[in-house]
Amino acid sequence: MSQPIVDLRSDTVTRPTAAMRQAMATAEVGDDVFGDDPTVNALESRMAQLTGKEAALFVASGTMGNQLAVNVLTRPSDEVLLEAESHVYYYEQGGMAANSGCLANPVHGERGVLPMDALVRALRSADDHVARVTLVCTENTHNRAGGAIVPLSRLQELASVARARSLKVHLDGARLWNAHVATGVSLAEWCATADSIMMCFSKGLGAPVGSILVGSADHVKAARRVRKRWGGGMRQAGILAAACLHALDHHIARLADDHARARRLAEGFAQAPGVSVPKPDTNIVIADLEPGAPDAATVVAALAERGVRTVPFGPRRVRAIAHLDVDDAGVEQAIGAFREVLTQAVGAAR
Ligand SMILES: Cc1ncc(COP(=O)(O)O)c(C=O)c1O
Repeated sequence: MSQPIVDLRSDTVTRPTAAMRQAMATAEVGDDVFGDDPTVNALESRMAQLTGKEAALFVASGTMGNQLAVNVLTRPSDEVLLEAESHVYYYEQGGMAANSGCLANPVHGERGVLPMDALVRALRSADDHVARVTLVCTENTHNRAGGAIVPLSRLQELASVARARSLKVHLDGARLWNAHVATGVSLAEWCATADSIMMCFSKGLGAPVGSILVGSADHVKAARRVRKRWGGGMRQAGILAAACLHALDHHIARLADDHARARRLAEGFAQAPGVSVPKPDTNIVIADLEPGAPDAATVVAALAERGVRTVPFGPRRVRAIAHLDVDDAGVEQAIGAFREVLTQAVGAAR
């Protein structure tokens, strides 16, 4: 009998549950470009209220939300300070340069935290020789730092220095829900550290499509206009928004299950030879392959042969994510496969 597939590549691989599909099928809809879709309007009001901001805009993807924020908070030639492994810098194809004419100033942080002195250093004099730094982007939880939670105090500190210099702050909160559930800090408290926040429904929350951009009424109004210019105006989008509303009602608290499964995965992986696995803060597990172990591509391929899908996250790093469609049996299957692959490879090399 063939083994079931355990897909740990990302929390984006989830499929809408039967209840979510039912909510989508029965959603009341209208033309959202005319502002007529009651379900999109309900989602936007609910998210504004949940995050303590004036307004919200439903967008097709996290990337679109981040790029809209950069676009409306900067002018061409402005400099944007951000962590070097942040999604906005690392995974959006230089979008801030292409879409908004901005210069990125990427700074290496520790576990996703943008160092404070980098901000202070970036704020050079208002001299005609230098670019104007107008925006700081943060990310929480931090994907490439292994789902690390950037502490609230660090974000508050950064925001207060940025605001004292009239800089804007955008928070990529694709997985802010995970930080909220893991810490008990409310979404509104996290969001108070930024002027603009993007959050995804299509990751741990399990919706098929959709992200939200929140901020002041002016910020969201400007972003709505650019969204239309970029072809992101959607019509009967209530079908999608209904899935997101369903996720808000049913899939936030359960993220704690993903965090527990990620911890179990990390413990199990760590018992394999030739690997170092930090304890995850949330749902993302990172396994670093030590000298003597095969490289990430080899490990990922060997796991796939055993029905376990992961991704290489660097030449010697493998990423696995726990999510709605992974149960305890899947976690144990993944641990068994991981140990077998590493034991065979490292044992053979010894
Ligand atoms: C931290 C972070 N921000 C933004 C995004 C972009 O989201 P999307 O894939 O919906 O464009 C991702 C996607 O993985 C992400 O991990």
